Amino acid sequence: MFKINCLNPIAKIGLDNFSEEYAITDNYEEADAVLVRSASVHELDLPDSLQAIARAGAGVNNIPIDKCAEKGIVVFNTPGANANGVKELVLTGLFLASRDIIGGVNWVNSVKDDPDVAKLVEKNKAKYAGIEISGKKLGVIGLGAIGVLVANAAMKLGMEVYGYDPFISVRSAWHLSKYIKPSKSLAEIYKECDFISIHVPLSDATQGMLNEEAFKMMKNGVRILNFSRDSLVNEEDMIAALKVGKVFKYVTDFPTPKMAPLNEVVAIPHLGASTCESEDNCAVMAVSQLMDYLENGTIRNS
Ligand code: MLT
Repeated sequence: MFKINCLNPIAKIGLDNFSEEYAITDNYEEADAVLVRSASVHELDLPDSLQAIARAGAGVNNIPIDKCAEKGIVVFNTPGANANGVKELVLTGLFLASRDIIGGVNWVNSVKDDPDVAKLVEKNKAKYAGIEISGKKLGVIGLGAIGVLVANAAMKLGMEVYGYDPFISVRSAWHLSKYIKPSKSLAEIYKECDFISIHVPLSDATQGMLNEEAFKMMKNGVRILNFSRDSLVNEEDMIAALKVGKVFKYVTDFPTPKMAPLNEVVAIPHLGASTCESEDNCAVMAVSQLMDYLENGTIRNS
């Protein structure tokens, strides 16, 4: 009997996939394997019983990979399983970055009981005018499962899409998505694009990569989307860039107290993968990876 501990609630459809040889335990200390979504494993000891950790999600920055490797604990993630959910929220982000929908809705809520609301709308609506995304240039940094879906969808909305990923060749980028104009450098993306969406994992190399130096290369009034990890963006530098209008709008899936007062920031409570479909897909993939490993010793991340 294998004992599985869930550090986060995992979609039931995933747990239903465990066969009778498995038991869910509340006791992390005795677990053979752990299922986790966003909870941090960094602060926890790794019990000797632990053979594997499966993350129901793409990023593994909440898991101490090096310590797991030292102890022979296999770490799984579920790349692609929530990509469609994230892509759909990124598209929402593109629209939120192009028009002041949030400002407009907040304003309507503040005047909606006024008997002259129609007149007020006529007088005030110009403040909430925006731009269209069609015909604009979108830079997609990171051409993994999510980046490619975003690029294809944005192209279908009439955007000109530039893609950059240091780990894939121009040729494979083209095969992945015929619609991406593969960029040879980040500098080209920064220089050319009206919108930039970042889709890279958090690592020592990517932490704070959107910083003062990067902003300097960008167009004035660029609109930036971050549905990947908060610390890919240097917060102080972003605030400075927003204050002088270098960055016109920052749409992020990671609210922070310092950014909360800024009207130019739209912050969403990390909802990219929070759809029934994405949660089910991640849970089913994570559980089947664990079962394959515990029962057969097979390691796969698909
Ligand atoms: C991911 O890394 O795929 C997301 O952070 C998943 C999630 O929101 O749980």
